[in-house]
Amino acid sequence: MKYLIDTGNLEAIKHINEFYPIEGVTTNPTLVSKEKSDFWALIKGIRAIIGEDKALHVQTVQETAEKIVEEAKLIKETVGGKFFVKIPIGEEGLKATMMLKKLGIGVTMTAIFTPQQALIAANAGASFVAPYVNRLDNIIGDGVRVVEDIVTVFDNYGLDCQVLAASFKNAQQIHNCAFCGCHTATISPDLFKIAISHPMTEAAIDGFTKDWKSVYGEKKILDF
Ligand code: G3P
Repeated sequence: MKYLIDTGNLEAIKHINEFYPIEGVTTNPTLVSKEKSDFWALIKGIRAIIGEDKALHVQTVQETAEKIVEEAKLIKETVGGKFFVKIPIGEEGLKATMMLKKLGIGVTMTAIFTPQQALIAANAGASFVAPYVNRLDNIIGDGVRVVEDIVTVFDNYGLDCQVLAASFKNAQQIHNCAFCGCHTATISPDLFKIAISHPMTEAAIDGFTKDWKSVYGEKKILDF
């Protein structure tokens, strides 16, 4: 499973992009609004950090197919590189997806809560579907189960569409998605640190440091 970062915060993107093996960045209108900055400056800032080869998923705020296509073309032209327009599932969004497919602009169909939504999005030509794991768990749904069902349905029909699971609140949800064959997951900056942390790891590293220093002090291998 590949990882993306789900944020519009430039400092966080800079840090995660430097220290973690990410495939790209996802944003949405809520995450962008949180930054309270000029939209184009923010989106261009993200591209400048991640470069042309990593994926940038930016969500449309238009509501009709024609306007969604117009907006997607403008964002793609402006930010360049590997780009996907995020479009919430709905009739206008599906129509836009079919139009964008013909234009060669990749679509991530978002706000997915059921396998049927995902299957129809994939048939329309979406490159990714984004099911919201934690939001389903919050209403006593089963977010991971929905992800698993979507993976199965896509496999059943050999569909050329990847599952980009989103909306995570803990590392267990991320692990469970990886375990069921989910292709990609977009997670918040804080969850990257949580995902690699373990008290036994810290104890092991402390032990190595203590034992080394007891014999060699502050000397490092480079100093021999
Ligand atoms: O883009 C969708 C994802 O960011 C939603 O996450 O945490 O708002 O449920 P969340």
